[in-house]
Amino acid sequence: MKEDKARIAVLVSGGGTNLQHLINNEQAGKIPHGEIVLVVSNKKDAYALERAKKAGIEALAIPRKKEDPSAFENQLTDLLVERKVDLIVLAGFLVILSPEFISRFEGRIINIHPSLIPSFCGKGFYGLKVHEACLKRGVKVTGATVHLVNQVPDGGPILIQKPVEVKEGDDPETLQRRVMEEAEWKILPKATEEMSKKIVEERAGHDNI
Ligand code: GRF
Repeated sequence: MKEDKARIAVLVSGGGTNLQHLINNEQAGKIPHGEIVLVVSNKKDAYALERAKKAGIEALAIPRKKEDPSAFENQLTDLLVERKVDLIVLAGFLVILSPEFISRFEGRIINIHPSLIPSFCGKGFYGLKVHEACLKRGVKVTGATVHLVNQVPDGGPILIQKPVEVKEGDDPETLQRRVMEEAEWKILPKATEEMSKKIVEERAGHDNI
């Protein structure tokens, strides 16, 4: 009998280095309870989509029109339901999802944020802006956080965090790179496997009743 795996969709907006490490970890057998079945971007030119295609994973762009954000979420929801997705991973995804979307999938959406939440998070803190704020404040330690997504931006329950040292002479780019290499690319695959295992075990438990 085919082993049950959580069906994972990864939502992306940019270069996709976090997606790439998820793919590498899955291919290395480090996400045994999950299978990436879909990658979706709000940007048709996101290099993350190329990474998915190279790995043989279905990769789709759903253009998001500011004047009609619900159309994007309706298409996304239909796709996730159609593909029977169990877990949604936000990996460099820069769209703020609506409360309706989040409540529909609550408990099944995780996000990677490039700081130690609750520092340097929430509205306006994304990408390089996070690291600029760290350097401006003069913190000696930063890091990354994987958390469950709820209605509050970067406000959901924290799943995994990993600290990263800020070094003398760092600029936002060198700090971002270190946070990605030493933290993001390690904790997101780990959290994805932990969530996948939980989903599979819960499903098995239901079946056994
Ligand atoms: C990274 O800084 C990540 O922390 C944030 O988006 C940036 C780009 O990520 N979530 P990726 O290379 O597209 O995964």
